[in-house]
Amino acid sequence: MMKFQGSHILSVSQFDRESVSRILDVAKAMIPYASRQKRCTVLEGAILNNLFFEPSTRTRVSFGTAFQLLGGFVHETVGQESSSLSKGESLFDTARVISGYSDVIAMRHPEMHSVAEFSKGSSVPVINGGDGANEHPTQALLDLFTIQAEMARFGKGIDDLNIVLMGDLKHGRTVHSLSRLLSLYNNVNITLLAPNELQMPDSVISTLSNAGHNITVTDEMAGNLQSDVVYQTRIQQERFASVEDADKYRGHFSLNKSVYEQYCKDHTVIMHPLPRDSRPEANELDVDLNDNQNLAIFRQAQNGVLVRMALFALTLGVDEKLSQFEKDVTWFTTK
Ligand code: NCD
Repeated sequence: MMKFQGSHILSVSQFDRESVSRILDVAKAMIPYASRQKRCTVLEGAILNNLFFEPSTRTRVSFGTAFQLLGGFVHETVGQESSSLSKGESLFDTARVISGYSDVIAMRHPEMHSVAEFSKGSSVPVINGGDGANEHPTQALLDLFTIQAEMARFGKGIDDLNIVLMGDLKHGRTVHSLSRLLSLYNNVNITLLAPNELQMPDSVISTLSNAGHNITVTDEMAGNLQSDVVYQTRIQQERFASVEDADKYRGHFSLNKSVYEQYCKDHTVIMHPLPRDSRPEANELDVDLNDNQNLAIFRQAQNGVLVRMALFALTLGVDEKLSQFEKDVTWFTTK
């Protein structure tokens, strides 16, 4: 198992199966705190610097919420224009300085491998919140946590899973990281459903095939959605040369009630990292599925808090001390 304390979390390639399982177990131990049955102040006095140089809602807010749920303080920097990176400062120098003000840093940046570059200058753990089209390790962990929780309802696990990854698999960092994590499990059947030009990068496909998984590469929805999980993604408009280029692919694989009823199984779980593109021309995941019990997208987003709490506890070495710092919740709560 990897040593978590003091480590950066940059790529899912750092993990073996045992490390992933430890993260998911610690995430589960966070449920009472996130659901306000108890609170925990194990990180009281600690400081998270949240550096988000690319748009984000869930990832940024849930990193901050996760840290605060463990009693820590959160400082936010949003947008390159509000930091000295816009004055030509290197990622290394920024890291040297900001890490001096922090106990841990969460960072998102539009360039591939930029977070790893930044981490070289940091004296505290850096957690990758997405580096361009490369990786999004915390999203993949929360996706795996969600798959495990949703499959448990049907007495299944991650081994022997059938999953469809669909949409923009070329630029979608969440599906790159999730596929790499799935390569740690056994006998997963993966259908990669995308327009040919937006298929999964070869390097990710080789990782999956080296793991012995059964892979289907297709651009046909019909006949290919009979799965335990369908994981829809957004066309990553910001990674295309122009909006018109991205427009060509919008609306190709819309998942809605009638598609679900026609092609999915009764219990197919629907996932999406969010945000979903709800514009009529894209409508990749229709609101007419909102009442479907198997639509896991909001449970999935909620699980992000648990997984990020777990990563803070592990990298800051307090994962064994949670119960020592437990307190009662004194306010009215509906959770
Ligand atoms: C994803 C991302 O930023 O990669 N969003 C997220 O973090 N939940 C997916 C996306 O933007 O489409």
